[in-house]
Amino acid sequence: MRRVVFNQKGGVGKSTIACNLAAISAARGRRTLVIDLDPQGNSTRYLLGVAGADLKLNLAEFFGQLVSFGLYQKEVEAFVHATPFPNLFVMPSHPELENISAKLESRYKIYKLRDALGRLEGTFDEIILDTPPAMNFYTRSALIAAEGCLIPFDCDDFSRRALYTLLDTVREIREDHNRSLFVEGIVVNQFQARASLPVKLVQELRDEGLPVLASHLSPSVKIRESHEVSRPMIHYAPGHKLAHEFVALHDELLAMVRRAAEEQESSVA
Ligand SMILES: Nc1ncnc2c1ncn2[C@@H]1O[C@H](COP(=O)(O)OP(=O)(O)OP(=O)(O)O)[C@@H](O)[C@H]1O
Ligand SMILES: [Mg+2]
Repeated sequence: MRRVVFNQKGGVGKSTIACNLAAISAARGRRTLVIDLDPQGNSTRYLLGVAGADLKLNLAEFFGQLVSFGLYQKEVEAFVHATPFPNLFVMPSHPELENISAKLESRYKIYKLRDALGRLEGTFDEIILDTPPAMNFYTRSALIAAEGCLIPFDCDDFSRRALYTLLDTVREIREDHNRSLFVEGIVVNQFQARASLPVKLVQELRDEGLPVLASHLSPSVKIRESHEVSRPMIHYAPGHKLAHEFVALHDELLAMVRRAAEEQESSVA
């Protein structure tokens, strides 16, 4: 399963959700890879700590060799690094990603990530792609490489309007480049169940037929602490409400994937 966490808006929880879902999947014994396509490198830091910034074999190096004329090109596996957590791996980001994107774009390298992930198919059970808060080369590469698309939503009225554009973007990529891409759902993050406005907003999204997932994530300062110590919630505070909510979200998505696979099997039979 390849999943992209996508929303052009910044700070909605993409990296937090990508890393916490990945940590749960890995803790359940599935070999899981996080691909950090954001030059900010938040997921890299979250899963590898400060050591993540020093890794030479990072994504900027991976993409860089696509536009250089080096004789010796490293295989994609060389860019995968183990984290301190069993079964959890990262392809780390680097600030240089920012500088090479125009070159990659102009040389039509948009399918290269998908090709590379195809070569990792037998190695990982789950791949999660974290994207930058922009619709750029890396975001498009991720949408072309992924199957499932998860959209974090921060209960803000402005972001609500942006959701429609976002869903159109996914539809367009699906039509033009990636027939396997589908929206798994919208994840409501920092949801205040006792405040009337967010509750009303989420209900309206449902009424409008948007695929809002049942599992919501509460706001909590614990997540900041978890970032600070570079330990996802199930390792840092497994008994915390937010850790339970991440597990519920993980299980909801897993159930959907299993159901879809069963339906496909029965339609083939
Ligand atoms: N459920 C939550 N409760 C409290 N704070 C949260 C929650 N989810 C995310 N945050 C905080 O919101 C900020 C943005 O989160 P995160 O970095 O995951 O978002 P992002 O969409 O990846 O941002 P960017 O677009 O910049 O990559 C972080 O400071 C994070 O600690
Ligand atoms: Mg992020």
